[in-house]
Amino acid sequence: MQVLGIESSCDETGVALVRTRAVGTPELRAHALHSQIAMHQAYGGVVPELASRDHIRRVLPLTRQVLDEAGATLADVDVVAFTRGPGLAGALLVGAGVACALAAALGKPVLGVHHLEGHLLSPFLSADPPEFPFVALLVSGGHTQLMRVDAVGQYTLLGESIDDAAGEAFDKSAKLMGLGYPGGPALSRLAITGRADAFALPRPLLHSGDLDFSFAGLKTAVLTQHRKLGDAPTPAQLADLAASTQAAIVEVLVKKSIAALKATGLRRLVVSGGVGANAELRRQLDAAALKRGWRVHYPELALCTDNGAMIALAAAMRLQAGAGQASMDHAFDVRPR
Ligand code: KG4
Ligand code: ZN
Repeated sequence: MQVLGIESSCDETGVALVRTRAVGTPELRAHALHSQIAMHQAYGGVVPELASRDHIRRVLPLTRQVLDEAGATLADVDVVAFTRGPGLAGALLVGAGVACALAAALGKPVLGVHHLEGHLLSPFLSADPPEFPFVALLVSGGHTQLMRVDAVGQYTLLGESIDDAAGEAFDKSAKLMGLGYPGGPALSRLAITGRADAFALPRPLLHSGDLDFSFAGLKTAVLTQHRKLGDAPTPAQLADLAASTQAAIVEVLVKKSIAALKATGLRRLVVSGGVGANAELRRQLDAAALKRGWRVHYPELALCTDNGAMIALAAAMRLQAGAGQASMDHAFDVRPR
């Protein structure tokens, strides 16, 4: 079975083709991605209307590119999958509309996929795929969640952010420091030369005894520190603030992940979502795991942020596991929230 997957929830258009195998994880045959980052940069963030229009421009050429790279044609596609949500409504509608139109024209079924399930399962495409069960730390621009994952479709929420997501904390802190969008990669680059203990920043809910997160207060604390630096902070001061901010976010993510592994008794952690690309987070999680004999799995770096491969993969894994059914009803809806 071959699944064509389309991702268009935010500022990346992603298309991919995966093929299921008799045993094991489906194989990624080809994937293509167009990032809109350069387009939104001038506005300091994603402009929803521009995002939708660009998805319209990119999605069919990317589909063509993926099929060509795989040496396949539309006739080889058995199921068309798309991101149903969460995300920007207009952006989601582009992917959903194209997926359902293609499927209707081909007489093939469609399957809407939860964006976070795509992130969650993306490490299965890595050279070192995890085994069930595991704890998942999902850290994206919109979500911060810890889950217990027993099988495809069997997810138990252990804790989540009660306000901002970890990626949002990176992005908002970076923005107020004048680092532009997207802030996570920019802030973590600047942090390399800074001192992580230069500024005392809060670690919200670190000792709350549960597995929830809160990052809204951190952003305010960063703003206060940044104001104290005056109108013209030196590069060294900014680097220190970046390193201190990253340290605060990463410490909470690492400590809560450890707490989740201890609470569940599981010995495997899967990290996914855009913030999973953060080198300092990876370094600290790896060190913590090494000490305790745990394993940590990450997606390939290129598949940490949004992409079509994870959507095609999640659909294929659901179908293979009998945890989802593709539908011949091509009337579609999206779930922005
Ligand atoms: O998963 P993703 O691509 O999109 C969502 O579903 O939200 O995640 C994007 C988020 C952004 O907040 C971005 O700043 C953050 O991931 N991010 C990073 C890094 N790379 C991306 N945050 C920290 N360090 C990074 N290296
Ligand atoms: Zn995402």
